[in-house]
Amino acid sequence: MTNSAIQDVQALFKKHFHHTAPQTVCAPGRLELLGNHTDYNDGLVMALAVDRYITIAAGPRADGKIELVSSLFPQPEIFPANEFRKNPAAPWADYVKGTLEQLHKRGVHFTGFNAAIHGTIPMGAGMSSSAALEVATALMVRKLFPFSPTLGGLGAAPARDAKGGLPPITPVERLEFAKIAQAAENQFVGVKCGILDQIASLFGKAWSVIDIDCRSLTVENPPMPGEAIIVCNSGVKHELIGGEYNELRQNCENAAKKLGAKFLRTVELKQVETAKSKLSEREYACAHHVVSEIARVVAGARALREGDHAQFGQYMFQSHASSRDQLRNSTKELDVLVDLARQHAGCLGARLTGGGFGGATINLVRHHEAESFIVHMQRAYEKAVGVKMTPIVCQIVDGAA
Ligand code: GLA
Repeated sequence: MTNSAIQDVQALFKKHFHHTAPQTVCAPGRLELLGNHTDYNDGLVMALAVDRYITIAAGPRADGKIELVSSLFPQPEIFPANEFRKNPAAPWADYVKGTLEQLHKRGVHFTGFNAAIHGTIPMGAGMSSSAALEVATALMVRKLFPFSPTLGGLGAAPARDAKGGLPPITPVERLEFAKIAQAAENQFVGVKCGILDQIASLFGKAWSVIDIDCRSLTVENPPMPGEAIIVCNSGVKHELIGGEYNELRQNCENAAKKLGAKFLRTVELKQVETAKSKLSEREYACAHHVVSEIARVVAGARALREGDHAQFGQYMFQSHASSRDQLRNSTKELDVLVDLARQHAGCLGARLTGGGFGGATINLVRHHEAESFIVHMQRAYEKAVGVKMTPIVCQIVDGAA
């Protein structure tokens, strides 16, 4: 957790509510390293939690109301602690309200509170600022009104120590928090996302990869090689609510059904080819992508284990090509970014990261070549697209706390 982000959110809280917030929480954004649109197909995906955060400073209040202020939006949002309705004038608050609604449904008892929200995750870049906000909200409620989410219910509430602190969140609780945050996004916000973003924000580990098996919902944290992770934001906003995401998911689900499977995870490429005539063109393309992408994650994890970073980078390039040609969730700008990255000798791999339809690329770059890669990308992207772009070097960090 960065001290400056905590200081900033505390300052925001104090400016608005005129005292110091008793609690702060911090949830990181994530990068999808390999495995595009595999999560909701029960598949495998590799992610990294990175040093861009949503931080919340909060304190209880006595009148049963919840008041939210954000450093990014001028208007505060106030509503009763048991009423969760969308306000078209404050769509940013939907992620908070959706999470509160899920907690309420699970029987978590909370009353009014004040909260200040501050974010350093670029919005619309595909780095999951929304999942981080949902996760931070759930953890903030835990700090104010202690509870323990268990599989489908609530366990005994954790006790505070002499200083008012709570015990660390267990892995079982972390998984439940991820499900709560995902349900908020699915049910309240209306994006039928998988669980990648929420798990990544909760299960990050410094200098490590987050390997997620979305069928068993198990997570491993193998070490990440010491190469540079650099994000290039195309500057084209990515807006999941746009419906293209849900459309991709629908095509994958239709394809699985026609192939006699519950999810594409259990389908082999040979089956997709054999049953091609049964599938629509889009269903075939989506299934082809997902099935081959899951195989690439398996191969990629092996390459990292064996220390073959160059091979891992090749899988990243292949992943991008498959997203571009089969899934068709890339954009002209993302394709330009990947092509330019490939021209640099220090770049091992590059691909779009996250939902797609805009957003950013993730680049794996030899660490001693990072500076020259950044200069190359800045110059070349401006020349090619006419837009200024500042690559972001990311540190791999621990999950939300
Ligand atoms: C978005 C979704 C995730 C995942 C990725 C694509 O980030 O929120 O659940 O599907 O897109 O891999």
